[in-house]
Amino acid sequence: MKSLIIIKPGFLQHEEGIVKLLEKAARVKLSNRKEMTLSPELLAKHYEEHIEKPFYPELVEYMTSGPVVVYIAEGKCKNTISRIRTITGATRNPDKGTIREIYGIGEVTRNVLHSSDSEQSAAREIAIFYEDAKENAR
Ligand code: RTP
Ligand code: MG
Repeated sequence: MKSLIIIKPGFLQHEEGIVKLLEKAARVKLSNRKEMTLSPELLAKHYEEHIEKPFYPELVEYMTSGPVVVYIAEGKCKNTISRIRTITGATRNPDKGTIREIYGIGEVTRNVLHSSDSEQSAAREIAIFYEDAKENAR
């Protein structure tokens, strides 16, 4: 089972700690690392369910403001996605010991990392960041 991971702008200095925590707590391996700056077009595909939401302009502004690091996380457990979401921490008021709590700055928008919320989302997001990107580079 796979998940798309994005370390968000401003948190790349914590990459090593974030990767270690994910791998240990969610029993996954991270691969296909790439560093990139997201375009508003790519982000609109990735966060398509949020385009009409009031927070979307702020989300785009933030997510395109600097480099991000993207990975594919892969685990053998059936509950890989939920393990990853648990160690990620909630969008608001993440629990102690979660990545968003440890590295976060108490802001809803600048919340350290993205992780896919279901197997279906993961497949869709990985296609956007990897397969599409490969096509576009040709
Ligand atoms: P993500 O997709 O980035 O992993 O985050 P998530 O599942 O925890 O949260 P989601 O509901 O998918 O929202 C995507 C991102 O939008 C920003 N957000 N801002 N101001 C607000 O009320 C608000 N709500 C969401 C956050 O950056 C969130 O990660
Ligand atoms: Mg989400």
